[in-house]
Amino acid sequence: MKHLIAPSILSADFTRLGEEIRTVESAGADWIHIDVMDGRFVPNISYGPIIVEAARKCTSLPLDVHLMIVEPDAIIPSFVKAGADLVSVHAETCPHLHRSIQLIRSLGAKPGVALNPGTPPEMLDYVMDDIDFILVMTVNPGFGGQKFIPQCLDKIARIRERIVRSGRPIHLQVDGGINPETLKQVAMAGADVMVAGSAIFQTDDYGKTIKEFHRILQR
Ligand code: DX5
Ligand code: ZN
Repeated sequence: MKHLIAPSILSADFTRLGEEIRTVESAGADWIHIDVMDGRFVPNISYGPIIVEAARKCTSLPLDVHLMIVEPDAIIPSFVKAGADLVSVHAETCPHLHRSIQLIRSLGAKPGVALNPGTPPEMLDYVMDDIDFILVMTVNPGFGGQKFIPQCLDKIARIRERIVRSGRPIHLQVDGGINPETLKQVAMAGADVMVAGSAIFQTDDYGKTIKEFHRILQR
């Protein structure tokens, strides 16, 4: 399986955001992961469409926008207009999950569904035909630099089985506490898109770090 690396700019140096994005792009990143937090669904506030718009000007890589916000439908068009290529909504925030997915698709972006650590994979059962990726949170969302929750490995494996049964090319993304130690475990469980914030941006040489990630994934 081909693995993709998606650096999360939440841990980037925001005084030099453009440079940080260009550096991870030339270091071999596959997607740029952008974490949107509203201080309601999660206990932290990050940034909105203007950062997506700024990132769009710095890279040709797909922009992967992770919406950790309540009532996302109203603001989804602004994120797509700003340049989001992939948009994930949390199942926990969408009473009309199917409608939110259709909305993302109708705007020309790829829809994904994110699940908190305590949310079961059954939430995905009736949307598997409509999504392009699934994001399994491997920490409780809200902050970078937290410790990986090992119980998530079983959920990753169960979701991989569902993807295989669906016969559709759905990416399985993991997010939170991904580092050289946990990388192999999530890959073995069936994840193929690895989001990493602190494990990339808190190192000195992003190229070396991303190469190390690929080396671990190939073993
Ligand atoms: C957490 C965010 C993550 C975060 C990951 O709520 O969704 O994308 O940036 O950070 P690390 O890789 O440091 O755990
Ligand atoms: Zn994220």
